[in-house]
Amino acid sequence: MSDLQITNLYKRYGNVEVLKDINLDIKSGEFIVFVGPSGCGKSTLLRTISGLETISAGQLEIGGRVVNDVAPSKRGIAMVFQSYALYPHMTVFDNMAYSLKLTRTPKDEIRKKVEAAADMLQLGPYLERLPKALSGGQRQRVAIGRAIVRNPQVFLFDEPLSNLDAALRVATRMEIAKLKESLPGTTMIYVTHDQVEAMTLADRIVVLKDGVVMQVGTPMELYDHPQSLFVAGFIGSPKMNFLTGKNAESYKAETVGVRPEHMEIVPNGKGVWSGKVIYSEDLGSDSFIYVDIGEEEAIIVRQEGKTPYKSGAQISFAPKGDLYHRFDKAGKPLTAGTAAPAKAAVAAKSTKPANPTTEGTPDEGVVGAAGAVAMPAKPARKPAAKAKTATPKAGAVKTTAAKKAPVRKAPAKPKV
Ligand SMILES: Nc1ncnc2c1ncn2[C@@H]1O[C@H](COP(=O)(O)OP(=O)(O)OP(=O)(O)O)[C@@H](O)[C@H]1O
Ligand SMILES: [Mg+2]
Repeated sequence: MSDLQITNLYKRYGNVEVLKDINLDIKSGEFIVFVGPSGCGKSTLLRTISGLETISAGQLEIGGRVVNDVAPSKRGIAMVFQSYALYPHMTVFDNMAYSLKLTRTPKDEIRKKVEAAADMLQLGPYLERLPKALSGGQRQRVAIGRAIVRNPQVFLFDEPLSNLDAALRVATRMEIAKLKESLPGTTMIYVTHDQVEAMTLADRIVVLKDGVVMQVGTPMELYDHPQSLFVAGFIGSPKMNFLTGKNAESYKAETVGVRPEHMEIVPNGKGVWSGKVIYSEDLGSDSFIYVDIGEEEAIIVRQEGKTPYKSGAQISFAPKGDLYHRFDKAGKPLTAGTAAPAKAAVAAKSTKPANPTTEGTPDEGVVGAAGAVAMPAKPARKPAAKAKTATPKAGAVKTTAAKKAPVRKAPAKPKV
């Protein structure tokens, strides 16, 4: 059992509060991804779970046991770092066997476990090599293998793929997806800046900002029902367009959010908004058209395939169907009633300041927890505002009043 529960957890360095009242409830076998801007506390949260950092207040339970004061090596976790942290003078085999030797595991059992992990990670041919004779991707697989042999209840990954080139990232991401399948009872917590990793690997994503959990949910819940402007703008790439002021008026919202892939180019004058193309990017498979409609930032419209619209062209566009999001002045979604903002599900219990011990080898890991997923309910739909045209207007994302309203839904409308 490797459920992981974090209750009212705080982490402070002196009087700097880095993690604030974190509540997460992670189920055994879940793959949880932490995302958030640089400095928001992702690594700190992983390290407090692992025990490499002490907890300033709150409670951490793994498998039903409070581990605040339990040494990292006794928490049943394994951690994989961006830097691999392999021992350079040891062969791949010895690197992977090291923690088992420390626990005086019998030799033949060590060999069996290392070979099984090497097999899973296709490291068989490299067991006698030193790390310096391996590629970055192979080294990262050794670091993962070293964690696997310890048979952890919880795996912690801190941006394990960020040192790899694009092709290797894709290949290693697939390895991690396979690893998840082959270790169904093992809880995994994974920190990344990569949207694709987050969306494809996660059972649930935890979005952090300034040490606070902003939202927890499945990738599609976050994509379809962001509970704040922050999450709306953070999940998805390129990011969601925000339209404000006059541009949002016909939607009776302070801000209207439309993802680039949910914009549809229509005949001039027939769209909700119109503007001049600043430039366009042809990627072959699709194109991104940057349009000035008077907002602070250019609006991005995605088109499948190549685009005929080049700089200077005038285009008109609108959301596809009701694929748009309305936000009030406070940056909260305007809905017809469902969608309660995600409140931490985990009931706030009394907190017990904790002082876990710090120690731990490089591959000691931790896990995180997931909390309150607050998923909105279905969007109340609104007639797809195919309103009038638009007057480009300017402004940064502002917000105004709240009203009721639709949120998006997802009719599939290919086109364009
Ligand atoms: N030992 C420390 N003393 C004081 N502040 C610290 C310490 N360690 C981390 N911090 C601060 O805590 C905050 C969170 O850091 P953390 O490394 O968890 O961020 P992160 O989300 O992992 O960022 P990144 O995406 O850049 O890795 C940062 O503002 C950082 O400066
Ligand atoms: Mg970090």
